[in-house]
Amino acid sequence: MGGMGGMGGGIGQWLLYRAGDRSLTLFALVVPPGSETPVHDHLAWGLVGLYDGTQDEDIFTTELELKESRPLQPGDFYALLPPRDDIHRVRTTSEHTSVSIHLLTNDTGCVWRHAYDPDTKAATPFRSGYVNVDCEE
Ligand SMILES: [Fe+2]
Repeated sequence: MGGMGGMGGGIGQWLLYRAGDRSLTLFALVVPPGSETPVHDHLAWGLVGLYDGTQDEDIFTTELELKESRPLQPGDFYALLPPRDDIHRVRTTSEHTSVSIHLLTNDTGCVWRHAYDPDTKAATPFRSGYVNVDCEE
C-alpha cells in the first residue's frame, strides 16, 4: 500500500477519483472484521458514508479525549470538519469486511497527517497511502 505502511490490520484505502489539483478525492476504506484504524486526523473537511458492514466509530477531541462512540449501519454518514470534528478511529464490528466511502477535500491518502496514541497523547506522522495508486506518481 503506497509503500508507507498504511493503516495496518489488512485495511486498504482504494482511490476512486482524484481531482487534477488533488483538492478533492473519493475513496473506499475497506476494513476487515475485527480490524481498527489508528486514531487519526484528516486535515480536510469531507463526508463519510458506510456502504457495507457495520462499524463503531470513536470520536476524539483535539485534546485526544474520547468524546463519543457510535455504532454505524450501512447508509449512515457523517461529516469531518477540522479541527473540531477531525480525529477518530473506526473498527469493523460485522462478521464481514466493512466498506465506507469518503469524499474528502484533500488528497487524504497521500498527504502527511497524524496518528495518535490517546494514552500518551503522542502524535506520529502518518500517511495512509492508497492500495491502487502510488503517491509519488
Ligand atoms: Fe478517518
